[in-house]
Amino acid sequence: MATDIGGLNVVRTRALRRGFGERVVLRDIDLDIARGEFVALLGRSGSGKSTLLRALAELDYDVPGSGELTVPAERAVVFQDSRLLPWIRVLDNVILGLRGTGAAERGRAALAEVGLAGREKAWPRELSGGEQQRVALARSLVREPELLLADEPFGALDALTRIRMHVLLQDLCARHKPAVLLVTHDVDEALLLADRVLVLDEGRIALDQRIDLERPRRHGDPAFIRHRSLLLASLGVGADDLHEEEKQAS
Ligand SMILES: Nc1ncnc2c1ncn2[C@@H]1O[C@H](COP(=O)(O)OP(=O)(O)OP(=O)(O)O)[C@@H](O)[C@H]1O
Ligand SMILES: [Mg+2]
Repeated sequence: MATDIGGLNVVRTRALRRGFGERVVLRDIDLDIARGEFVALLGRSGSGKSTLLRALAELDYDVPGSGELTVPAERAVVFQDSRLLPWIRVLDNVILGLRGTGAAERGRAALAEVGLAGREKAWPRELSGGEQQRVALARSLVREPELLLADEPFGALDALTRIRMHVLLQDLCARHKPAVLLVTHDVDEALLLADRVLVLDEGRIALDQRIDLERPRRHGDPAFIRHRSLLLASLGVGADDLHEEEKQAS
């Protein structure tokens, strides 16, 4: 059901369940996401993160399940690969399916926002991986979504490009204020960006932690390190695996 539930929350699930055959992947997920809230979703490989994201994107019509789900109609999804259409140019990718007058102008403005002014006529194959992901972000944000769903959007990028993308995503979110669900394997990425971090384990939300650190956040901040230790523990990384500085801070 794609409706606006109004009030403070844009996402609401109750007893959300999804499974494949005998295997239950999501068990009774109760999740609220507030308007403009940035939520990061961590969890081991196979814990059901993408299954939950696809449910919120309503892309899982082929997956049996039950429960209540309310999400806004204005949604955008970004994946690990940019999923640009290779046979149309960058600007046309950004505005594909966009209705109304001024679509091209809005597309140009979105490309400028992600630092790609002047590349409107390029083909997707002429862009680097990081640039293609920026086009994917422009394509999402040009629709002014109330909910941005991102499944490891920076997972395939090198470390330096990823840092740049973190800064860009923070700027874009500050300007457009969508609610965000960001699936990531990277605990630091979650702590740098999110207002709240969830850990999914065996189909349940095992941890739901508010991150009340000031921005811009710093890896070396003792509170950051404490949050990281807690999240790593929840992900099954034991104290013996932590760095010495983390043990001291926790
Ligand atoms: N189409 C499908 N058919 C059968 N099983 C599936 C299907 N899609 C996912 N699964 C199973 O559901 C479980 C959760 O998968 P999901 O992709 O949600 O995990 P994930 O947390 O996103 O993992 P990763 O971090 O590796 O991306 C896995 O055990 C997976 O094998
Ligand atoms: Mg996944």
